This record gives sequence, C-alpha cells and structure tokens, in this order.
Amino acid sequence: MTTGQTTGRTTAVLGATGMVGSRVITEAVARGHRVLALSRKPADERPGVTPVPVDAGDPDALRAALTGASAVVVAVRTEPADRDFLVGTTRTVLDIAAGTGMRVLVVGGAGVLRSPGNPALLVADNPAYVPAEVTSVAAAGVAQLRACEAHAHADWACLAPPALLAPGERTGRYRRGTGTLLTAADGRSWISAEDLAVAALDELDSPGADRLFTVVHHG
Ligand SMILES: NC(=O)c1ccc[n+]([C@@H]2O[C@H](COP(=O)([O-])OP(=O)(O)OC[C@H]3O[C@@H](n4cnc5c(N)ncnc54)[C@H](OP(=O)(O)O)[C@@H]3O)[C@@H](O)[C@H]2O)c1
Repeated sequence: MTTGQTTGRTTAVLGATGMVGSRVITEAVARGHRVLALSRKPADERPGVTPVPVDAGDPDALRAALTGASAVVVAVRTEPADRDFLVGTTRTVLDIAAGTGMRVLVVGGAGVLRSPGNPALLVADNPAYVPAEVTSVAAAGVAQLRACEAHAHADWACLAPPALLAPGERTGRYRRGTGTLLTAADGRSWISAEDLAVAALDELDSPGADRLFTVVHHG
C-alpha cells in the first residue's frame, strides 16, 4: 500500500490532536485509511482526514461521531488524570462498538503491564517505574483495562506502551510482547510515538492473538 491509495476502511481516532493520536492518523493516512479525527477541537486538513469535533464525555455525540467507522483507536488523556472520564469513555466506545461491530484499539498506560522479573507486581504498583506523584495516572490506566476486560464486546485490544513514550523517529520497527513490560537493547523501556503508531496500525491491519500487548524500540 503506498500513500494515496485507499483501503476503503474508515478508522476513527479519538484523541486526534494528542501525541499518540496525531501520529496514528499520519500512519493510517499513509496506509490508505480514511480517518475520522475526533477530539474537542480537531483541526486536521489533510486529504483523507475528516475532523469531527466531539466531547467524549457525551455518549450520544460520541455515537454520532463514530458513525461509519470500522475501527476506532482510543487515545484520550486528561490533565490531571480523570479515572471516571477514562473508564466512562472507554465503556461508551465499547458499548457503541458492540452494536456496530467496530474494532476497538485502546492505547493505554504502561502501568497495566507486569514488572520484568516480578510477574506478581504490576508496573502501576512498582515504585521503580511509577513514582508516588503519578500513581493515580497509572491506576486510571489499570481501571481502563479492567473496563475492557469486563465488557461483553469481544473485538477490542489494548496496546500498552513501554515506560517511556515520546515524539521521535519513525523507524518502522519495534519488538512486540504480551503482558510484561519490555526493555530495548539499550536497557531502556522506550519507543517513539511514531513507531507506536506503526504498531497500532499493524494491529488494526492484522490483529494479533493477544488482547493486551506491548511494544518496545527495536534498535
Ligand atoms: N508510557 C506510558 O504509559 C504512556 C506515555 C504517554 C501516553 N500514554 C497513553 O497514551 C494515550 C494517549 O496519550 P497522549 O500522550 O497522546 O495524550 P495527549 O497528547 O495529552 O492527548 C490527549 C487527547 O485526548 C483528547 N481529549 C481529552 N479530553 C477529551 C474529551 N473530553 N473529548 C474528546 N477528546 C478529548 C485531546 O483532545 P482535545 O483536548 O482537543 O479534546 C487530545 O487529542 C493515553 O492513554 C496515555 O495514558 C502512555
């Protein structure tokens, strides 16, 4: 698939203006997806991208905004972390998806992963990765995953980033794992947001076996 061709698929990105969402849109457009760019103030004018202003806290508006999408990437975040908003939005998206058959890919937090070398300890509860001042952020991410696990809609997956996720280079490569935090060859648990977007689109284009998966930089 080269840029400009279309797959005929419409992918919605909730959190379109964010660090993750904006890069997911770039990757989706490059692969020929039509994109619905959802956030409160989307302003994307690229060909193939339709900005759809919506407040995710309004279920009826969200349902209308997602009309026509065959998949949705959920990449919302609030500052400060709002657990009820995150869980409520995720449940609403899953409710809508259950009725339409839409695939749901949640980009969540690294806190849902197991600690390397200590499978009983979630990253969210591990002070080596999550200092006290951000435990509420990590806990909100865990609650988001639990909401997915408890929901009857079958067609969802959760992509949990490594510990560090920041804008950077698109290498097109990454290493994929399941429920345990991964570390790159340089000893750090990290990936660029661009390569995370590659992994997100790979999952949409060719779903893997695991509902919870993670990725890390592959140097
Ligand atoms: N290492 C890690 O675990 C790690 C690191 C970074 C991010 N993440 C995760 O990745 C995901 C995306 O994070 P990010 O860094 O890309 O977030 P971000 O840059 O802060 O973007 C958040 C997005 O959410 C949208 N949003 C917030 N409230 C909304 C509402 N009420 N209605 C509609 N849209 C709303 C924002 O758009 P508007 O403000 O325009 O509405 C924005 O597009 C999150 O789940 C985050 O926890 C994980």
